[in-house]
Amino acid sequence: MPVRFLRGKKEIPYEEKIFVNQVQWKTRIPGQKGGFFLDVRNLRSFILEKSELARDRDCLHLFSHTGLTSVCLEEAGANSVFSADGAKEALEEFSSRLLPEEEVLNFEKKNTIFTKGKHHMVRADLFQDWGFLEDKKFSLIVLDPPNLTPNQASVPAGKKAYRSLIAKALFHLEPGGDLILLSCSGRILESEFEKIGRETLAIKGWKYKDLYKLRPEPDHPTRKEFPEGKYFKVHIYKKCEPLDQ
Ligand SMILES: C[S@@+](CC[C@H](N)C(=O)[O-])C[C@H]1O[C@@H](n2cnc3c(N)ncnc32)[C@H](O)[C@@H]1O
Repeated sequence: MPVRFLRGKKEIPYEEKIFVNQVQWKTRIPGQKGGFFLDVRNLRSFILEKSELARDRDCLHLFSHTGLTSVCLEEAGANSVFSADGAKEALEEFSSRLLPEEEVLNFEKKNTIFTKGKHHMVRADLFQDWGFLEDKKFSLIVLDPPNLTPNQASVPAGKKAYRSLIAKALFHLEPGGDLILLSCSGRILESEFEKIGRETLAIKGWKYKDLYKLRPEPDHPTRKEFPEGKYFKVHIYKKCEPLDQ
């Protein structure tokens, strides 16, 4: 499908400077969801405003795309941020934000970890292989897979995939850590997503102190007459502990 622009005369692709609170970010337009997944803005602002969530913590960002949320974690004072995504181009764009212009990282090879300052980056198929994480533990985990329910027939498999991803993430969570689950799968209702999260924690032997649900930003309206607008969920499970502790 040809790329269409409704306004503006700039040659594409082009770079646009954006701000998330105090974080400045150059994004390439056009790109998926505006090049930086605009819907995640509520979580990014939350991370920056409640900086105690990430401060001095080792953070894991699964399905990290071009890393804007990872950079927000760093800005909030994270000790380290480990970002994993399957898309070579997204990781290349992320690393180009961290490195001088002449330095380029090659994400051709899967499961190779690159480190730059506080950031670790890896290209991996997160529906297949989490072996690159070995038995590393993190005190904050952000899990943000792509849409897992592209059609009605895919809903049962999508729900199963969420349960499996959450269970794997729990293996890498430090006792007392926080788990942030995102879902852009519109065919899974918020209440169903909450059930998946709560049940998976319980089945895997974890309890949590609080659950916060972030509201979508005003430019992602959730009106009654527009139920499709309710596709995006951000659930924050605070102070997760194994049941036997
Ligand atoms: C919803 S976006 C993530 C947005 C990101 N968390 C952020 O804060 O900007 C989903 C991401 O999943 C990645 N992805 C899709 N399939 C994948 C796979 N099999 N393994 C790893 N990443 C995958 C895409 O490249 C995309 O970056």
